[in-house]
Amino acid sequence: MDDLFGDQPGDTGRREELAAGAVVLRGRALPADALLSALDAVVAAAPFRNMVTPGGFTMSVAMTNCGAAGWVTDRRGYRYDAVDPESGRPWPDMPKPFLELACAAAAEAGYPDFVPDACLINRYQPGARLSLHQDRNERDYDQPIVSVSLGLPAMFQFGGLERSDPVRKVPLRHGDVVVWGGPSRLFYHGIPVLKDGEHPAVGRVRFNLTFRKAL
Ligand code: SIN
Ligand code: FE2
Repeated sequence: MDDLFGDQPGDTGRREELAAGAVVLRGRALPADALLSALDAVVAAAPFRNMVTPGGFTMSVAMTNCGAAGWVTDRRGYRYDAVDPESGRPWPDMPKPFLELACAAAAEAGYPDFVPDACLINRYQPGARLSLHQDRNERDYDQPIVSVSLGLPAMFQFGGLERSDPVRKVPLRHGDVVVWGGPSRLFYHGIPVLKDGEHPAVGRVRFNLTFRKAL
């Protein structure tokens, strides 16, 4: 079947091992209606913004956060902060559907103790990209990262412990969840330039929720 949006409902429920400690749970976030309404509420309280890296570059991916801690970057560096620097208020609470999905997906992936206190929300418009990086601003690397994809499809790059390691390319579609931890917790990963498209549920955009135990 020609599937312009790449949702491929036939994949739903499939589990793909990516690397030691890393798995893709196809369609695990579907149906996504409750997640998308919760996302709207978070964004109303803490709007997307394009943050600046310590090197002075404005990121093409727009970001916001919910939960006790939010990931931020500015000229001073990368860190977690309890307060949204734009509003001076705490980040919005993590919505229940976010928390439930993150905990359940982590448990299915082999991390039954995972309870996130931070959710970084990325918004990719066509042309946006996130270069290869490690998630290493969290305190406890025994806890995994849980990543939920919504909207337009993207090609996820998943490498190894060194930036120069070979990279696997994994297409991620609306509703897919990736969990990485254990031996792959510090693997390099990224998203190359997002292709244009129109997703029936969310329009011309991809959202990614990454859940972390930051504190
Ligand atoms: C991230 O590494 O923070 C996001 C990955 C993604 O957008 O899938
Ligand atoms: Fe990341």
